[in-house]
Amino acid sequence: MYLGFDLGTSGVKALLLDDSQRIIASATAQLNVSRPHSGWSEQDPADWIRATEDAVAELRAAHGVALAAVKGIGLSGQMHGATLLDDADNPLRPSILWNDTRSHAEAAELDADPRFRQTTGNIVFPGFTAPKLAWVKNNEPDIFSATAKVLLPKDYLRLWLTGEHVSEMSDAAGTAWLDVEKRRWSPELLAATQLGEGHMPRLVEGTERSGTLRAEIAGRWGMGSSVTVAGGAGDNAASACGAGTVRPGTAFVSLGTSGVLFASNGAYLPNPESAVHTFCHALPDTWHQMGVILSATDSLNWLAGITGSKAGDLTGELGETLLAPGNVTFLPYLSGERTPHNDAVIRGSFTGLAHQTDRSALTRAVIEGVAFAFRDSLEALRQAGTELGRLTAIGGGSRSVYWLKAIATALQLPIDLPAEGDFGAAFGAARLGLIAAEEADPLAICTPPSTAATIDPDTVHATAFDEAYRRYRALYPAIRGVST
Ligand code: XUL
Repeated sequence: MYLGFDLGTSGVKALLLDDSQRIIASATAQLNVSRPHSGWSEQDPADWIRATEDAVAELRAAHGVALAAVKGIGLSGQMHGATLLDDADNPLRPSILWNDTRSHAEAAELDADPRFRQTTGNIVFPGFTAPKLAWVKNNEPDIFSATAKVLLPKDYLRLWLTGEHVSEMSDAAGTAWLDVEKRRWSPELLAATQLGEGHMPRLVEGTERSGTLRAEIAGRWGMGSSVTVAGGAGDNAASACGAGTVRPGTAFVSLGTSGVLFASNGAYLPNPESAVHTFCHALPDTWHQMGVILSATDSLNWLAGITGSKAGDLTGELGETLLAPGNVTFLPYLSGERTPHNDAVIRGSFTGLAHQTDRSALTRAVIEGVAFAFRDSLEALRQAGTELGRLTAIGGGSRSVYWLKAIATALQLPIDLPAEGDFGAAFGAARLGLIAAEEADPLAICTPPSTAATIDPDTVHATAFDEAYRRYRALYPAIRGVST
């Protein structure tokens, strides 16, 4: 048995996998995000531990015997979060999350130093870890000087599980301190934020062993004394391990809180100008590119919240027959945007509202707006030299067939829907736990799921989607400067 943990933004999920990669069970414990000021997004690391304990308790109640047989654990997590620890490993403040954009001025300053793009292959986005530390230094100097270690969210969970300060390449690539080609910390970039390698965890590959589950926790969970904890991965690379997106040329579209268009690459192919992210994959000698949109299902959840409905009911109301886009256009920039704009201060908008605009017209506009944001990411990946032939759909939003049809049509790419099952980040993490515990061949384990259905681009509405995409593209420059 193997256990995967995904420390997401909205919850911690624990997933139990048997030796033949059959999912035995999964359990999720919810997490809340605190937004004390506009652009801020924080979580208390203690809540991650509590949620992990709750998810395991739920698994244990129904599957205690299977849980006791766990030999390997893999970790996945929301990327980029800055968890600052003192020299006794106590958190000094709430963790500053991936979708927190308070440090945009610091990010622009670091990005202007050419060494960052040169060494990391990426823009220094405000969501990345390094500018957050620069913000803490400028605004909370006492906390900055007390900081002994900086950990990413899942690596804090690992510290609790194993007692070790360790990270791995895929998540470390999102800090803006990693030499992404050479797969090691960059002392120069750390020094540019007044930090050193001593502030960083040790690095392993995602498929390697990072430590052993502490005896106290193993005892409490009814497990043996030598449970391996794998390096694991940032949630996008972990999802790729789950969805079998590991061989060069394969790609997925993830409709989660954030939206991600992810392509696996056999080489390091940086192209920061396109605002594409170029990160290490969880497998050795493998990299990936991705376009990231900050508010995907988050946009629909927002609409559901303000209309007093549920996201599933809003998409359900649309049925499954794709319509041509109407006159209402939605820009999903609720907390700024990464690809392709790298704009932390832009905010979303609805345009084209009329007396007859009803709730379902707004839902369609939100769904189309997110689909067009993915088209922007596709264009950015093309600019970065990556052509995609088809996509695998993952993430909670992919339950909406209407949404997938809109994306397939906006991107003019077929989308494969995996057969019933769970191929997300927790599954990918459990696979990494298996690989590390058994020293198994990663490519033999991280295979793609079988396809239940392929959603082809709609030919009838292709032109209408293209025209609507052009309207969408024209709106960003028009609202820039007046949306905040
Ligand atoms: C990727 C990113 C998000 C988070 C979501 O760069 O910021 O996809 O990993 O958890």
